[in-house]
Amino acid sequence: MRTIEWDDKFILKIEKLDHQHKEMFDLLCRLGETIGKKEGKDRQSAIYDDLIDLTQTHFESEEEMMERLGYSDYQLHTDEHNFLLEVASNFKEKLELKGQPMREGDMAFLLDWLEIHILGADKKLGEFLTGRGVK
Ligand SMILES: [Fe+2]
Ligand SMILES: [Fe+2]
Repeated sequence: MRTIEWDDKFILKIEKLDHQHKEMFDLLCRLGETIGKKEGKDRQSAIYDDLIDLTQTHFESEEEMMERLGYSDYQLHTDEHNFLLEVASNFKEKLELKGQPMREGDMAFLLDWLEIHILGADKKLGEFLTGRGVK
């Protein structure tokens, strides 16, 4: 089972965003523990709701910072966020309306997306923000 561990390479040096990213990692790990367990469906659903809420809040934080400071890649970065939210709500629909629990492949997708997004788009944003004196 693919998993994800917090590592210094993910640090942006922006306190609020780093804290939210760490929380996302924690929830993803907890979600991963429910995969393949029949009795874990309700638990999975509850953790997944928390993960979506946190992700939305986190994206809003980043987007507010980008907008406020006139970040030139705002649209590109926001498109990546919106793509993830679309896929995430698809998983939620399957889980809650069709009773199909998340699978290993779904989990791997979320982990890959997060890792690539933080190391790419978020790192770039982090450099921009630290350059503007944001901590
Ligand atoms: Fe982002
Ligand atoms: Fe982020």
